[in-house]
Amino acid sequence: MFPNLVLLSGAPTPIERCDALAEAIGLRRGQLQIKRDDLTKLGVGGNKARKLDYLVADAVERGATTLVTGGAVQSNHVRMTAAAAAVSGLDCVAVLGGQSASVVEGNTLLDVLFGAELVFTGDDYSDDLEVAIEQVAAEREGAYAIPLGGSNAIGALGYVQAADELSNEVPTDALIVHAEGSGGTHAGLVAGFGDHGRVMAVDVGAVRDIANKVTDLAIETAELAGRPKPTGLVQVLDGQVGERYGAPTDAARSAISLVARTAGIVLDPVYSGKAFAGLIQMAASGDLADRPVVFVHTGGLPAIFTRRFSNWLVED
Ligand SMILES: Cc1ncc(COP(=O)(O)O)c(C=O)c1O
Repeated sequence: MFPNLVLLSGAPTPIERCDALAEAIGLRRGQLQIKRDDLTKLGVGGNKARKLDYLVADAVERGATTLVTGGAVQSNHVRMTAAAAAVSGLDCVAVLGGQSASVVEGNTLLDVLFGAELVFTGDDYSDDLEVAIEQVAAEREGAYAIPLGGSNAIGALGYVQAADELSNEVPTDALIVHAEGSGGTHAGLVAGFGDHGRVMAVDVGAVRDIANKVTDLAIETAELAGRPKPTGLVQVLDGQVGERYGAPTDAARSAISLVARTAGIVLDPVYSGKAFAGLIQMAASGDLADRPVVFVHTGGLPAIFTRRFSNWLVED
């Protein structure tokens, strides 16, 4: 489908068994593995690299010269799109929900370093940013618009490929757990496995009505990939968002600390920390029983180096 496909992500990513961590959350040795999608090789890593593998191939095939996307001021997706543009010889315009930052830090620092042009909407992050991305793209010649989080069927193909990768690495009864933002990771995995029952996503509150979005996107992605329509019902774990998208939670902070100290792996406060807190919740409730579990670490590292989160992470 994409003759120009270049794997910017460097996939396959490593997968590692985490016995001490498994025991610390009440699972048995050998029951928990972490799929290190935080170690994709594009723009300091994370899940968006796999989506950008396909989105950039599509952009190049269409003769685009500029990637236009958007997100929150500290968006990982925007940072990785900026890196993808840089490595592919394209320009990047990033539409950021919020005010121009007085301190350039974390992901925004990397956006600038990767050469992206930043456009601030002035309003907070919301689904309406989708419209702002389209508007900016309509004004630029050679623009290729990428939706929030890269979560359309083309982007989700990256996680169809990840499901195929995982199928060679883990038993068929393993439950895949990951952070749910804009839904493309979830939809791609389900389309790849062909079964909603294989995936449990932990919502972080980025998008309204996410379960319906994932259901539809998984069908659309499966069609595009030439796979059967997924069976079963979408699985989304609620209860880890806290006050709102991006708001710090005690459960995420405890999860980040535990994973760092028992596995030497760094989660982030907005996505993977909340997702791992969800996994701890599932383990504690006994729902997992003896089922093998794979936590997909989707990245997000730059957030911990912002003023907002660095002190909070080490508070007593
Ligand atoms: C670090 C990180 N983890 C998880 C996600 C969620 O992925 P998705 O948007 O595909 O649901 C995102 C992006 O939104 C992210 O940046």
